[in-house]
Amino acid sequence: MDHFDLRDGVMHAEDVSLAAIAAEAGTPVYVYSTATIERHVRVFREALAGLDEPLIAFAVKANPNRAVLATLAGLGLGADVVSGGELLRALAAGVPASKIVFSGVGKTAEEMELGLTEGIGQFNLESVQEAEMLSAVASRLGIAAPVAYRINPNVDAGTHSKISTGRADDKFGVAYDRALDAYARAAALPGLDVRGVAVHIGSQLTDLAPSRAAFARIGTLIADLRAAGHAIVTADLGGGLGVPYNPALPIPPSPADYGAMVREVTAGWNVRLIFEPGRVIVGNAGVLLARVIRVKEGTTHPFVVVDAGMNDLIRPSLYDAWHDIRAVAPSGARATANIVGPICETGDTFARARAMDAVEAGDLVAFMTAGAYGATMANTYNSRGLTPEAMVKGEDWAIIRDRQPIEALIAADRLPAWLQGKQT
Ligand code: LLP
Repeated sequence: MDHFDLRDGVMHAEDVSLAAIAAEAGTPVYVYSTATIERHVRVFREALAGLDEPLIAFAVKANPNRAVLATLAGLGLGADVVSGGELLRALAAGVPASKIVFSGVGKTAEEMELGLTEGIGQFNLESVQEAEMLSAVASRLGIAAPVAYRINPNVDAGTHSKISTGRADDKFGVAYDRALDAYARAAALPGLDVRGVAVHIGSQLTDLAPSRAAFARIGTLIADLRAAGHAIVTADLGGGLGVPYNPALPIPPSPADYGAMVREVTAGWNVRLIFEPGRVIVGNAGVLLARVIRVKEGTTHPFVVVDAGMNDLIRPSLYDAWHDIRAVAPSGARATANIVGPICETGDTFARARAMDAVEAGDLVAFMTAGAYGATMANTYNSRGLTPEAMVKGEDWAIIRDRQPIEALIAADRLPAWLQGKQT
């Protein structure tokens, strides 16, 4: 459920007209709804009722805007980060270090040192090699790093291959069968405080069965680890719960369904559970607002050319993702069209033969469910500045990231000495 609704024929984010935001901020622009974010946090938290003080660590990669993170920090969430940059963003937004979990397969020694000096809650290690490096860094600093190993349970999450992470040949985690050896090695390292297990099998999961299977394996492993003498006090179950993108498809399992499954599978584990939801918290809380530049005649269907491109919202191009595309002020007429951006690639196609609101040049369209993995994956391809972002709260709204001027892009390039002063 979200707070993007038609009022007097114009789509609003809460009490603010998207047309008003477009008029002032220009397009393309991402718009987020605070009430929707708050609602999703509440629903997710309620879904986990009955668990012993779970930590909800928002997956920062889904939407790292400081205002979004500050909203979530204000609601008591922690953060799951995968780089020094995300760690600094989470801290800057007011997330307490103790609620930060550092995931990722390629942490560098510098990033480890940053996490250690800031005093983050847990490092999720993905290999024995990484454990050895972290132990060395922590020993040099005279501290013991709180760690879990991320386990690869060899479970196919049944999602898009590019966002599936728990199959044996995916790059993530320590192979389930090698986990006991990896823990033995970590326990022998001086700079580590081994305390947990972690798992994350993929994103946009629309079936709970693979997660249930993966968690069940983790439950078995916890028992084996304890039998081997390890004190396991945390279990990080990752993120991944899907959200509805296409109203014509079955609705993915709800947070309540997910919570019930978790309660059932983890009963008796006697650990503090950690969750790393990203998409389910912010996905439906954002739209990408764009303007139709022109409608170009096509052979089969017309091409609706909008001023947002694959550089602003890459998901359709990268994962064949489906985003609902609506007119901000629908006339009631419907049409079938191809929706494309201005980028010089055929991949810059948001939808083909889409039955949707009829739109014409100058009309505004909203790409729905763009709050997760939208602005954060934007890039400057075709020399387009990064997309601005706006946030609505009730009747108020504010720009929370400026449009990047092309001058900033040009200024970031440097001319080597041999090219300076030689332009003709
Ligand atoms: N934890 C870990 C270790 C992760 O790798 C991820 C996502 C999450 C949590 C959060 O997953 P979520 O709850 O958001 O599904 N760019 C892709 C999604 C990539 C997800 C990467 N990892 C997309 O646009 O669909």
